[in-house]
Amino acid sequence: MPPDAHHPLHVACIMDGNGRWAGRRGLPRTDGHTEGEENLARLVRVAVQRDIGWLTVFGFSTENWRRPRPEVRHILGLHEKLFGRVAELNELNVRIQWIGRPFDSREARTPKYVQRAIRKAIVDTAENTGMTLTVAFDYGGRAELVKAVEGARSTDAGVTPETISQHMYLPDLPPVDVVIRTSGERRVSNFLLWQAAGAAIHFTDTAWPDFGETELDEALALLDA
Ligand code: FPP
Repeated sequence: MPPDAHHPLHVACIMDGNGRWAGRRGLPRTDGHTEGEENLARLVRVAVQRDIGWLTVFGFSTENWRRPRPEVRHILGLHEKLFGRVAELNELNVRIQWIGRPFDSREARTPKYVQRAIRKAIVDTAENTGMTLTVAFDYGGRAELVKAVEGARSTDAGVTPETISQHMYLPDLPPVDVVIRTSGERRVSNFLLWQAAGAAIHFTDTAWPDFGETELDEALALLDA
């Protein structure tokens, strides 16, 4: 069902294909991630121009810790950089937030320096009233659902769709209208399982570093169909 004209759009991106983008150019995989972060910054600007209300991106999954240490360190550094782009976010009136395993939970693995960058960016952009950019880091949809169901069980109403929604990591994150997955794979990969239950899905062969405004518009057109 197309969203009504007044409801702020929620677009969610699985930013895949950085490694292959780099490989095709004879570059190290890490260069692909660097370009991926740059492309995210470009896409945030486009999303603001398109009046998208919520943009949620999969920056690092609970499974991504299995990657080689140097690659993980590089991606962590890129998150520190992204959450450091406060001046740019403020200029765009964008509020940044984070979704993932709570820092104090037993399984959480986010290093302290990334935690600090995340906390600071959230505080420094909290007053912005335009788009909300949510970065999923150390995120897995099933882990989020387990936590939400545990929370729901302890309420008087018990486990219902409403009480589950109220106990998600970010209860205010609205339903996703469209999920975009770049670079050819047609999988959901444990991303926003609850929030994207009714979403349209735009799959494209374009690698994330090359995903631009024309393709974003194609994905948004799915909502007019
Ligand atoms: C997929 O590429 C991307 C990731 C594992 C997530 C990392 C995303 C970025 C670094 C870009 C955005 C940056 C931030 C800071 C949010 P891949 O390595 O799986 O590519 P491949 O499938 O071609 O190997």
